[in-house]
Amino acid sequence: MRAEPEGSGYAGGHLALLQLIWGEGFLSPGGPAEVGLILDGLDLAGRRVLDIGCGVGGIDRLIAQDHSVAEVVGIDVEAPLVDEARRATAGSAVAGKVRFELVEPGPLPFADASFDAVFSKDSILHVPDKQALARDIFRLLRPGGVFAASDWMTGREGPPTPQMQRYLDAEGLGFVMATQAHYRTELEAAGFVDISFFDRNAWYRDLAREEEAALAGPLRETILARTDEAFLDQQLDVWRTMRIVLDSGELRPTHIRAVKPPTDVPEGDHVEP
Ligand SMILES: C[S@@+](CC[C@H](N)C(=O)[O-])C[C@H]1O[C@@H](n2cnc3c(N)ncnc32)[C@H](O)[C@@H]1O
Repeated sequence: MRAEPEGSGYAGGHLALLQLIWGEGFLSPGGPAEVGLILDGLDLAGRRVLDIGCGVGGIDRLIAQDHSVAEVVGIDVEAPLVDEARRATAGSAVAGKVRFELVEPGPLPFADASFDAVFSKDSILHVPDKQALARDIFRLLRPGGVFAASDWMTGREGPPTPQMQRYLDAEGLGFVMATQAHYRTELEAAGFVDISFFDRNAWYRDLAREEEAALAGPLRETILARTDEAFLDQQLDVWRTMRIVLDSGELRPTHIRAVKPPTDVPEGDHVEP
């Protein structure tokens, strides 16, 4: 996978703040309900699942717990996050089914057809080359395997508006967003079929307002006990600028579903029922 070298940077204050807003183990919005929607209708029992950009691993533990998988492999490019994911998983009920690997941005270090499903939540926006990533995901899925993800997309072709640029600058995390049409093109070119999207702009537009109010109000003192005032102010600016592009529709969190054609797959050996 490819990421801007200076792009991601979730360790430090972000880890405390984001988990206060989004729940222990989660570095993206929606918690278990949103993960459930992304995986809705998939039968993952006994399957091997890869999670690209696993963060601190809350989602991987959840998938192992709720879906009777054989194994979940979470990968991330930030060592402190992988360390925290391992720490939080060790000794848990799903410890034997979940493992985490620190990877370099670039090609995914797994064998062809080695996973039944590839999951990702709000991490691919760190990867500039969506085409290379789509091809790599296709390569390591077995025929009949499914890609089920969420990512933050832009509703606009061409350069970001000044409002979006202000939001991206406030985040400072090296986001590289693409349109839904771009994702479709790259997934089709990689060979995926049954490609579908589920736009979550309206859902997150409302939730982000509640998050902003919580940051400014009830969560303020707890956050200040773990980070400093400057960081909290900077994060309030993130939410303020994000609200504007959620309202305008330029920022569009979206679920993605795509299937690797089930050639060579014996009858009844598909991930989807
Ligand atoms: C918004 S967080 C989401 C984490 C997790 N999926 C969740 O929802 O809790 C984005 C994650 O992507 C990771 N990331 C950034 N670039 C990456 C890359 N090239 N490959 C894999 N993960 C990456 C970051 O380190 C971070 O953990």
